[in-house]
Amino acid sequence: MLRISKRVFYPQMTLSRSLATYNSPTKAVSDRSLTKKEREFLEPMIRVDQAGEVGAYYIYKGQIAVLGSDKKLKPILQEMWDQEKVHLARFDELVAHHRVRPSLLRPLWEVAGYTVGFATATIGKEAAMACTEAVETVIGNHYDDQLRELVAIENHNQDLVDLSKTVAQFRDEELEHHDIAVAHDAQQAPLHAVLKAVIMQGCKSAIWVASRV
Ligand SMILES: [Fe+2]
Ligand SMILES: [Fe+2]
Repeated sequence: MLRISKRVFYPQMTLSRSLATYNSPTKAVSDRSLTKKEREFLEPMIRVDQAGEVGAYYIYKGQIAVLGSDKKLKPILQEMWDQEKVHLARFDELVAHHRVRPSLLRPLWEVAGYTVGFATATIGKEAAMACTEAVETVIGNHYDDQLRELVAIENHNQDLVDLSKTVAQFRDEELEHHDIAVAHDAQQAPLHAVLKAVIMQGCKSAIWVASRV
């Protein structure tokens, strides 16, 4: 089975990387309840991340519906999809654990994700990869921004430490997906720059909405 290595840097990589680092706290971690302020900080974060993972899950599902018969591409898409399943399951767990109200627009994220995945895969393999490149750029940067915020607060609380670890791990995996897409000719897609810009803007708008609604 194809394995996605922990850190894959392809020469075509275009994403600038000055990534936030996460070091486990050296002080004792407390399992105290979150303060009201910490909850207000954490809730929209978990809500938008769950919605993003719903979108990602459905994008890969849509791509596999079209490209599942491609022997070379199928295992690559399948491996990335399998990681998205783990991401989504983790945020489902966090939503339940913290009793976060999920995004009310989940059906929209499902349909939008599937449509984008299916449509780009219908254009061709390169367009499907350009879609992945665009989406994972935005999601990777989004997780990186969140990690910076989490690192900036005093997070010797077990829940916040756990969330930081999750966000750091998923950020790395999303950026690996990005690198894989670029290595599989994302930038050869027809109208690559336009396609990438449109999908990135769509993702940014979805993030803005999903953190609120
Ligand atoms: Fe993901
Ligand atoms: Fe991903």
